Amino acid sequence: VNLKPRHTLALDAHCNNLYTVRSIEEFSHLNLDLDRCLILGGGSNVAFVEDYDGDILTYQDESVKIIDQPGYWLVEAGAGLVWHDLVVRCVKRGIGGLENLALIPGSCGAAAVQNIGAYGVEFKDVCYAVESYDVKTGAQKRYQNHECRFDYRNSLFKQSQNRHLLITRIILRLDKNWCPVQKYNGLEDINGELTPLTLMQRVIELRQSKLPDPNILPNAGSFFKNPIVSRQQANGLKQQYPSMPVYEIDEHYSKLSSGWLIENAGLKGKQMDGIGTYEKHALVIINYGSGSGRALLRLVHEIRDRVYSLFSVKLENEVLLIGKQGVIKL
Ligand code: EPU
Repeated sequence: VNLKPRHTLALDAHCNNLYTVRSIEEFSHLNLDLDRCLILGGGSNVAFVEDYDGDILTYQDESVKIIDQPGYWLVEAGAGLVWHDLVVRCVKRGIGGLENLALIPGSCGAAAVQNIGAYGVEFKDVCYAVESYDVKTGAQKRYQNHECRFDYRNSLFKQSQNRHLLITRIILRLDKNWCPVQKYNGLEDINGELTPLTLMQRVIELRQSKLPDPNILPNAGSFFKNPIVSRQQANGLKQQYPSMPVYEIDEHYSKLSSGWLIENAGLKGKQMDGIGTYEKHALVIINYGSGSGRALLRLVHEIRDRVYSLFSVKLENEVLLIGKQGVIKL
C-alpha cells in the first residue's frame, strides 16, 4: 500500500497492509500482524523514510458529542476526527479554550499522543480523559488526564512500549468562564471584540504567515523538539549569543529554540536532493517534491551534527521516523 498520501511529508514508501477501522467491534475481524503494526492518525508527525515491513492501522471514528455541564463543557471526539475541525466546531458554538491550537494538522487521537501545543496552550491543559483500545489484548481503558503522563510533546501513548494502545476517543473539558491565552507575541492586540473566534482567526493568520501549508509544501511541522538544557549551559550560550531566545523552565532547566539554532548554524533554507529547511522557519523540513527518505535522513544528520558542533546541543526529532523495521532512533 502506498504511504505517500498517508503522511504530510509525502515521501515515497509502502507498507504491507493498511486497515481502516471505524469501531472497536471491527477489530475482531482483522488479520493484523500484531508484532509489526503501527497506528497512524493524520500522518502529520511521521516520516516514512523507506518501505515499512508491517501493517498500518487507522481509526476512523469522527463522532463528536458536546455535553453541557454546570460551569463547563465536556467535548467528546472520536480519535479519527481532524483536530482543526473540532477546534472550529467548538469555537463556532462560542465554546472557547481550543482557539490557540487551531490549524495544527493531524487527528484528535494524535493530539493526545503528541500533547500538541502552540501559542501558550497544550492539549494537556484542556484534556479531561483519553480512551484507548489495546490492540494486543483487546482491553479498553479510560485514562484520566493525570494518568496520561503528558509532558512537552510527549505522553504515555507516545512511549515505545505503549504503541499497541490505540486511542479511540478524547474527552476535553472546556470552562464556560473563558480565559483567553494571549501571552504569545502577536496575540495581544486583537482588533474589535475579543472572542474565541477573533482569537482563533489571529492564530490562523500567525500560523499561515510562518508555517507552510502541508498541502502545498509537504512538511511535518516542527521537525525537532525545542531542546531542554541546564540553565548553566543556557546562560553560557546566551553570553556568547545575546540574540538567542532562552525560555526559563525552572531553577534547573531552560528551553532553547531549535529554529534559532538551525538558522544560526547557517542551515535556514538549505536544500539537498529535494529536501530542505523552510526559508521562513528553519525548524520545518520540506519535501520539495523529489525528496526521498534517504535525503531526509542525510539532512537531519547534517542539522544535528552542525548544531551540536557549534552549540553542544543535541537536537531530538519530534517527528517519528519509520523505517523497514519500525521506529528509527537517531
Ligand atoms: N526562530 C529563529 N529562526 C527560525 C525560526 C525561529 O530564530 O528560522 C526563533 C524565533 O525568532 C523565535 C523562536 O525561534 O524567537 C521561536 O520560534 P516560534 O515562535 O516560531 O516557535 P517554535 O519554538 O519554533 C513552537 C512549537 C510549534 C508552535 C510554536 C508556537 C515546538 C517544537 N514547536 O515552535 O509547534 O506552533 O512554538 O507556539 O515546540 C509543532 O510542534 O509542529 C509546531 C509547529
